[in-house]
Amino acid sequence: MKLDLAKQGAPISPLIYGQFIEHLGRCIYGGIWAEMLEDRKFYFPITKDYAPYKSLTNTAFPVVGASPWEIIGPAEGVTMVKDGVFVGEHAPQLSRGSGIRQNDLGVIAGKNYTGYIWAAGSRGTANIEVTLVWGDGVNDRSAVKLSLTDSGYTKGNFGFAPKLSTNKACLEIRVLDGVVKLGPPSLMPADNVHGLRADTLALLKQLNAADYRWPGGNFVSGYDWHDGIGDRDRRPPRKNPAWTGVEHNDFGTDEFIAFCREVGAEPLIAVNTGFEGAYSAAQWVEYCNAASSTLAGSWRAKNGSEKPFAVKYWGVGNEMYGQWQLGFMQFKQYTIKHNIVADAMWKVDPAATLIGVGDLDRVNTDYDPDMVKAKQTWSKGMLESSGDKMNVMSEHFYQGRVPWTTDGRVELLQSVTQLKDNIRKKAEGHRALQPTIPALKGKMMPIAMDEWNYWHRDYVYGELGCVYELADGLGVAEGLHEYYRQSDLIQMANYAQTVNVIGAIKTTKTTAEMETTGLMLQLYRAHYGVTPLLIEQPAGSPCDIAAALTKDGKTLTLAVVNPTAAEVTVRPALAGASFGATATRWHVTGPDEFAHNTPGQPRVVDIKRTDGVAIASPLPVPALSATLFVIPLK
Ligand code: AHR
Repeated sequence: MKLDLAKQGAPISPLIYGQFIEHLGRCIYGGIWAEMLEDRKFYFPITKDYAPYKSLTNTAFPVVGASPWEIIGPAEGVTMVKDGVFVGEHAPQLSRGSGIRQNDLGVIAGKNYTGYIWAAGSRGTANIEVTLVWGDGVNDRSAVKLSLTDSGYTKGNFGFAPKLSTNKACLEIRVLDGVVKLGPPSLMPADNVHGLRADTLALLKQLNAADYRWPGGNFVSGYDWHDGIGDRDRRPPRKNPAWTGVEHNDFGTDEFIAFCREVGAEPLIAVNTGFEGAYSAAQWVEYCNAASSTLAGSWRAKNGSEKPFAVKYWGVGNEMYGQWQLGFMQFKQYTIKHNIVADAMWKVDPAATLIGVGDLDRVNTDYDPDMVKAKQTWSKGMLESSGDKMNVMSEHFYQGRVPWTTDGRVELLQSVTQLKDNIRKKAEGHRALQPTIPALKGKMMPIAMDEWNYWHRDYVYGELGCVYELADGLGVAEGLHEYYRQSDLIQMANYAQTVNVIGAIKTTKTTAEMETTGLMLQLYRAHYGVTPLLIEQPAGSPCDIAAALTKDGKTLTLAVVNPTAAEVTVRPALAGASFGATATRWHVTGPDEFAHNTPGQPRVVDIKRTDGVAIASPLPVPALSATLFVIPLK
């Protein structure tokens, strides 16, 4: 392997180690956010027919599609009323002796749980009892009596420390006296960090993503960001506009910014150019970035942040080329909308980096005859008509056993190249396309691959919650190698998505674990260099090699993906400097290509470190591994 310090590529942007979190499945609620209760704001009416799970019913994480609250006692003791409601369209009203319970909660013995509930009593006092039940024994429960006295809704706090671990705990709320209307309850592990799950957060910190794209995805095209600000308990529950289940609006703009700060990442907010438009988008920029003397800035200040959030990166819409997108429109109309939205956003913050929707190959043959007639692809059209109204162009791709094909498993040597092939195809396509577009005046529009990943159709961890095996991890490592090769053009990439939903991290109700894919992202982010060296791939080998210098130029990082069942060796020869005597080797491997990690169980695939690897000998790259040598230079 010949390496030459003089043959360098453009610096690798740290933003290629970005992530994407969407209000979908168990990514945010059930993954990142620590709330344990489903439908705490009673979006679904509570009825005598307790049957909450409507899809993925044969999995451990079925999707809630009806009220998860079961009536305790006579059904007529609980009615849904529309007057004097705390939040949403209706509230449960409970008479003396009746109650509701939520089943299927996950708790750990000895861990503390903290919660509260809002309630209003008809006679000025709400006497209720809140109980956590963690088993069938008479002592497998802990109850807190609350006497909430005020003219309206009053908040009562409670805490529990269950003595057994179970996924079948339940929270009961019973009325002891009078008639009581309920506002939202909440229950979280007491170790939550500003509402974030501590176990997931620890892994997110290891992942150390450079930026997070939020709130969608398809979700954003139906999202009203105003729903997600202000008093969390008063934010309205809505049906998730794009996916299944309820959007609780517990995780909104302020929580997203706090989340990014907690994990040390840049926020990237995608605005709604589907059902909404310029006014809403510009006001969101104002909420985040303008002084507190502006209207929306004053809301932010009122919500606790006098200082603007200074969000640099903004996505203008999501996949607006697809008829699956809420507010989808034909190209000619969308480009006008994009330009109006971009102008409005820049009027509020001229320094905002705007990412426009692209898709290199998309011609909408079904719904856009003009596009077909013009033989025009979406990215080409957007660059021609909106190229001066964006700073970066977005591209997306997914590969694998996606649900919209019948394709099954492919051989490892084929699957492992799928992501890098897609990345290269996008890059080569843009390199061919962009110089032909006069509006770009010879400049290249940088690309944000702001959704990329394998997507497999078998869902284990809720909606889109597929498992990633070692083969997928190796493919992600090869994908990163391709980003390094395209570092001048692809300046941002957001692995889609972070938790559970096609996620780099998977969670159960009480545990969290890094997937094979997450381990690769973690490894390269932590140890790979920033100045790529241009190298030729070894002829006839299925291995993929990449090399880069660290920022200070004092260390070479050499990465090899070996998708074969045998160890291989690499002998680097360097022009322009010489190697120190030994290297540190990091590698990720597992017993076979199907190996994967499972939350709560010992790791099968992990990152391993070996110090003192002699440079004088051929460097060993274990079978089925992504291996990274960190070699000091002299
Ligand atoms: O990441 C899942 C979905 O895939 C996103 O919501 C959408 O943008 C894409 O089609």
